[in-house]
Amino acid sequence: MARKLLLEHDSVPGIETFEVYKKHGGYLSVEKALKKMSPQEVVEEVQKSGLRGRGGAGFPTGMKWSFLAKPEGVPRYLLCNADESEPGTFKDRYLMEKLPHLLIEGMIVSSYALGANLSYIYIRGEYMWILDILEKAIDEAYAKGYLGKNILGSGFDLDLRVAPGGGAYICGEETALIESLEGKRGNPRMKPPFPAVKGLWGCPTVVNNVETLMAVVPIINEGGDEYAKIGIGKSTGTKLISAGGNLARPGVYELEMGLSVEEFIYGDDWCRGIANGKKLKACVPGGSSVPILPAHLVTKTAAGETRLMTYESLADGGFASGSMLGSGGFIIFDEDQCIVRNTWNFARFYAHESCGQCSPCREGTGWMEKVLNRLEHGQGNLRDIELLEEINKKIEGNTICPLGDAAAWPVAAAIRHFREEFEWHVSHREESQTRNYGLLKESLVG
Ligand SMILES: Cc1cc2nc3c(=O)[nH]c(=O)nc-3n(C[C@H](O)[C@H](O)[C@H](O)COP(=O)(O)O)c2cc1C
Repeated sequence: MARKLLLEHDSVPGIETFEVYKKHGGYLSVEKALKKMSPQEVVEEVQKSGLRGRGGAGFPTGMKWSFLAKPEGVPRYLLCNADESEPGTFKDRYLMEKLPHLLIEGMIVSSYALGANLSYIYIRGEYMWILDILEKAIDEAYAKGYLGKNILGSGFDLDLRVAPGGGAYICGEETALIESLEGKRGNPRMKPPFPAVKGLWGCPTVVNNVETLMAVVPIINEGGDEYAKIGIGKSTGTKLISAGGNLARPGVYELEMGLSVEEFIYGDDWCRGIANGKKLKACVPGGSSVPILPAHLVTKTAAGETRLMTYESLADGGFASGSMLGSGGFIIFDEDQCIVRNTWNFARFYAHESCGQCSPCREGTGWMEKVLNRLEHGQGNLRDIELLEEINKKIEGNTICPLGDAAAWPVAAAIRHFREEFEWHVSHREESQTRNYGLLKESLVG
């Protein structure tokens, strides 16, 4: 059975309330950290745990924390990135809805470690009902002495506020998030300086994902070394995966890093295979920003190794035959799905969400959307496929933030693995217009 560190009590009735949460072992890490550990010791435990950021990039959390500048007399901030807007990713929504006190607990311990006395949860504007859940839980934590002045008599003060997001995917990029929190348009900043040196209001700031901050709780409770024993290699701990698309049992799962992709898709404890007995055609394992994998590369790498749910294994083969764990938005496509249509759909999203600051992204995402639109609707030609590849190269690596790359990689991967299907849309213009996917060749399906 699955090892659970965050979702152990998610189905307990009333777990969103302070009393029930506390009864199930809640807030023990706050007592341990604030009463028995120095802030530096908390940072060291997180370093030992090998925890990597769960927001997408997988950067080591302890290392990020150790970069935080500590000038005298200047406030430091911890910001929780709860802007979750990546298509296919909905794990943070579930976590916050079910376990608001776990997030508050993780933020108290993390703020203590970083020396932050005012921290924010920046939550996606569309998650308004969760904002209410969080505020209610925060009120309870203040009333019980876990927030506010002199928490548990430790001398540590912390105020925690929830800020509704600006209504744009780009506001999840950490420097855009900071701009938005400062009341400005959410445009990403040039880096360096990094937020650890110059972040919110020009002060040292750490931005971490919801799941990352929650994972700090079991790390402090069980110890960094124990946490590091869970998982495989540099992918330690458990990972929340939001599984969607054509799965028999889609949902939010917590798995131990290292579970095989095959077991995750087909196992009885997990997604129970492809819906309606269909065949697997493709998988986007880490949210819309990561390269799509065709069926033969989903459960095995190009070298024939078993593909695992880890940062390393999902990336095995690089962009030629691998993908990324990303934000854990696991999307399955069955044999009836049209890759061109899906690629166009993702491209529409990025064209809409580009902040427009960098011309390669502003113009390139718009062009990709137009070209994919005409291919999907039977008005494209073979030159369009090359054009997409050219636009891709012009975006990749040429923008302030990675939104450009996130828009380019899925298109490049779709053409790399499903070129025949793009060409089919050119050679079968009429069928393409009526979206008759059933005519697609058998060879495209694994
Ligand atoms: C366009 C864009 C959107 C992003 N959206 C999110 C998001 O919604 N949530 C998140 O945690 N990270 C998001 N990120 C990643 C953040 O910039 C940042 O790396 C992350 O919050 C760091 O937290 P972590 O180290 O705990 O993963 C996004 C990045 C980009 C480029």
